[in-house]
Amino acid sequence: MTQNIIIIGSSSMDLTVQTDVIPEQGETVLGETLLMAPGGKGANQAVAAARLKRDGDVYMIGAVGDDAFGNKIINNLRQFGVNTTYMQKIEGEHSGTAHITLYEQDNRIIFVPAANNHILPEVVLPILERFERGDIIVMQQEIPAETVAVVIEKAADLGMQVILNPAPYRPLEQKLIEQVAYLTPNESECRQLFDVGMDEALAQYPQKLIVTLGAEGATYYDDDARHMVPSYPCEVVDTTGAGDTFNGALAVALSEGQSLASALQFANMASSFAVRALGAQGGIPARETVDAALEKKA
Ligand code: RIB
Repeated sequence: MTQNIIIIGSSSMDLTVQTDVIPEQGETVLGETLLMAPGGKGANQAVAAARLKRDGDVYMIGAVGDDAFGNKIINNLRQFGVNTTYMQKIEGEHSGTAHITLYEQDNRIIFVPAANNHILPEVVLPILERFERGDIIVMQQEIPAETVAVVIEKAADLGMQVILNPAPYRPLEQKLIEQVAYLTPNESECRQLFDVGMDEALAQYPQKLIVTLGAEGATYYDDDARHMVPSYPCEVVDTTGAGDTFNGALAVALSEGQSLASALQFANMASSFAVRALGAQGGIPARETVDAALEKKA
C-alpha cells in the first residue's frame, strides 16, 4: 500500500536580507539584497517531500492568515504538488513570517508564528482520523506544543509513525521522545534536549535519535555502534531550509521502505542540493536529481 506523508506544521513568508555587516545593538547598517519567498519549516518539509516522492500524496495541515502572504503560501505549496485541502485561512490574523539575516553563508532567524498558532489539537485530530494506518507524520516546533504532544499520542492509536524535528528547541517531555519513531535534532538542539552528551544520548535511543551535523552529515546509533552518514561536499550558497529538506527526504525514503542507513544517505544527498541556492525552498531538488547523484557516487 502507498503511504501518505502528512506534514503538520508551520508555513511563512521568509524575508531574507543578505548583509556583509551585522549591526550592533542600536546600530543601523545597509543590507545588500532582499529575498521574499515562501518558507516555514513545515512548508519546506512538505515541498521537499512532494518533490522527492514517487508515489502517494503529501498533505500539509497548517494555517495562514487572511493577508496577501496567505494566498502566496498556499499557491506555492500547490505548485509543488502538496495537497492543501487541510490548510486553514485564519480571519483577522497575519500569516507566519520569518525574518532572516544571511551573513557569511549562515543564517539568523526570528520566526513570528501568527496564524501558525491556530494549528490546534481540535483542528488537527479530526483530520488525522481520515488517514490510513502506516501513513507517516512529520512535525516541527513552530506550532503549538500542545498540538505536537497530542498528535504524537494519537498517532500511536492510529498506527502512524511520527518523525519529530525538534526545531526550534523547546523542552520536550520524556514520554513524547519515547513515543516518536524518529527524532532529528541538530547538534545544538540535541545538547539542549538531553542532560547527557551526544554520544550517550545516541546510545540511549538507537535507530530513533538522528543528529544532523551540518556539513559533516548525520549520525545515529544502532544495536551496537555509532554510525556516521557523511554529507556530500558542495558549494554552499544558503543553508536555510537544509534541515527541512533532510526531514522531508527522510520521510520519503522511509515511506518507500528503505533502511535507515539508506534513507539517511538519500536525505543527506537531497539537503546537499538544498544549500546550493538562495532561499529555503530555492534549492530543493527533484527526485531524478537526487537519484542520479546517488547513482554516480555508488
Ligand atoms: O528552517 C528554515 C526555516 O526556518 C525558514 O524557512 C524560516 O521560515 C524558519 O521557519
